[in-house]
Amino acid sequence: GRFGFKSNNASLLDQIAAAMAGDLGLTSRAYPAQPCMPAQTACREAPAGGDPELSEAQLQTIAFYLAHLQPPARRDPDSPGVRRGERHFHALGCAACHRPQLRTAADAASPLLRDRLFEPYTDLLLHDMGEGLADGRPDHLAGPRDWRTAPLWGIGQVQAGNAAGFLHDGRARSLAEAILWHGGEAQAARDRYAALPRTARDDLHGFLGSL
Ligand code: HEC
Repeated sequence: GRFGFKSNNASLLDQIAAAMAGDLGLTSRAYPAQPCMPAQTACREAPAGGDPELSEAQLQTIAFYLAHLQPPARRDPDSPGVRRGERHFHALGCAACHRPQLRTAADAASPLLRDRLFEPYTDLLLHDMGEGLADGRPDHLAGPRDWRTAPLWGIGQVQAGNAAGFLHDGRARSLAEAILWHGGEAQAARDRYAALPRTARDDLHGFLGSL
C-alpha cells in the first residue's frame, strides 16, 4: 500500500472509498455495508442515499481531481539559511526516509502524470518508529509501531497551534516536537537533531518551513 498513515490502501481509489465509508458513512462498491453497529438502531434505520451511495464514476472523478492537485510551491528555496538547513537535513539522515525526489511510473494511467519527477520528501514506506509513537494496533501488514513516512511537502504551510498538530494523532505542537518524538529506526537521526547547536536547528526549521 501507498496511502494512509499505515500504508493500508493500495490505490488512491481505495483510500477515497475507505475514507468515504469510515469518515463520512457513504457506501460504495468496495464498502457496500453501512458502518452501523448492531446497537445503533437510529443509524441502521436512517434512509440510505442509494445502493451504493457513491457510484464508481463519482469515485473515479474524485480520484482524478485529487491525483492532479498541484503541491504547494516552495518559498525562498535558495536563500542561504534554507540551503544550510537542507544540508543539515541530509547530514542528520532525515532524507533516508523523507526522500526528496521520486519519479512517477512511465505507464501511469494519466498521461499528465507519466515519468514526472516530484518532491514529496517521503519514501512512502513503513518504518518502525518506536514505542513512543506506537498505537498498539496492527493494520494489514503494518505492526503497532509502524508508520508510513509522512510526506513533508507543504509542511511549511501548515499552521501548527494548539488545535492542529503534527504526527499521525496530531500530538506534536511544533516541528521540533514532531522530530523529538521520532524513535525506533529514526532514533539515531533524532539524537543527532537533539545534539545540534541552536543556529543549525533554526536553519533546519527554516528549510522545513520552505517546503
Ligand atoms: C526511519 C525513518 C525516518 C527518519 C530517519 C526520519 N523520519 Fe520524520 N517521519 C517518519 C515517519 C514514519 C513519520 C510519521 C510518524 C507519525 O505520524 O507518527 C515522520 C514524521 C515527521 C514529521 C511530521 C510530519 C507531519 O506531517 O506530521 C516531521 C516534521 C519529520 N518527520 C521530520 C524529520 C526530520 C527533520 C528528520 C531528521 C532529523 C526525520 N524526520 C527523520 C520517518 C522518519
